[in-house]
Amino acid sequence: MNSLMKKTLRAHINPSILNADFSDLENEINKIATVSDSLHLDIMDNIFVPNFTFDLASAAKIIGFSPIPVDSHLMIANPDEVAPKYAEFGSASVTFHLEAAKNVLETITNIRSNAAKVGVAIKPKTLLKDVIPYLAEIDMILIMTVEPGFGGQSFMFDQMEKVESARRAIDELSDAQILLQVDGGISESTIPVAARSGANCFVAGSAVYKSANPAEMVKKLRNLANAEFI
Ligand code: DX5
Ligand code: ZN
Repeated sequence: MNSLMKKTLRAHINPSILNADFSDLENEINKIATVSDSLHLDIMDNIFVPNFTFDLASAAKIIGFSPIPVDSHLMIANPDEVAPKYAEFGSASVTFHLEAAKNVLETITNIRSNAAKVGVAIKPKTLLKDVIPYLAEIDMILIMTVEPGFGGQSFMFDQMEKVESARRAIDELSDAQILLQVDGGISESTIPVAARSGANCFVAGSAVYKSANPAEMVKKLRNLANAEFI
């Protein structure tokens, strides 16, 4: 990153509740609410990924009681129809997977017309060039740094080349406010690498919820990332 680019970046930290206590989510979300940018809500359908979390109805309840904006990450097959509903139920942003969508542009438009920001995610084996044509149309690109499906996996350092290229592509677009999000294996030891590569939005699940003080961990992660932007 050149120094001009670095100065304009500010780290967003979005804790994922995937590894939080599902039996008391209100309390779990309250632990991080005052210090987090958004709540990252992982939606898994046991088809696109081999795991299930929430359906639309239970997600809507969480979106309803979350005191902070909800960043819904849809790891579901055929997101075209249902993605706009996550927007309709009040998600601040809805991210769907490029690999799963049939009509990417239409899905982007339909999410946006329900007043949410739009993210497009790619899995580790998907090439960055496949998502580049949509960059100017979206608010966030999510580069997965683990295979989607489970929390607690190891950060894939080999995705950093993709993050660096995505940062260059975003910076080449004039007036780009596009967030560059990474998700999977983000911790105190990996967040500096991701920030240095150009990511400015960080999802952290186990690092936050397995820590003795989740709020302090969110602050620590933010400081570590911002230290790379000075
Ligand atoms: C993985 C999910 C992530 C997960 C991250 O498929 O998309 O959001 O919660 O968890 P950690 O931070 O534990 O890798
Ligand atoms: Zn996620």
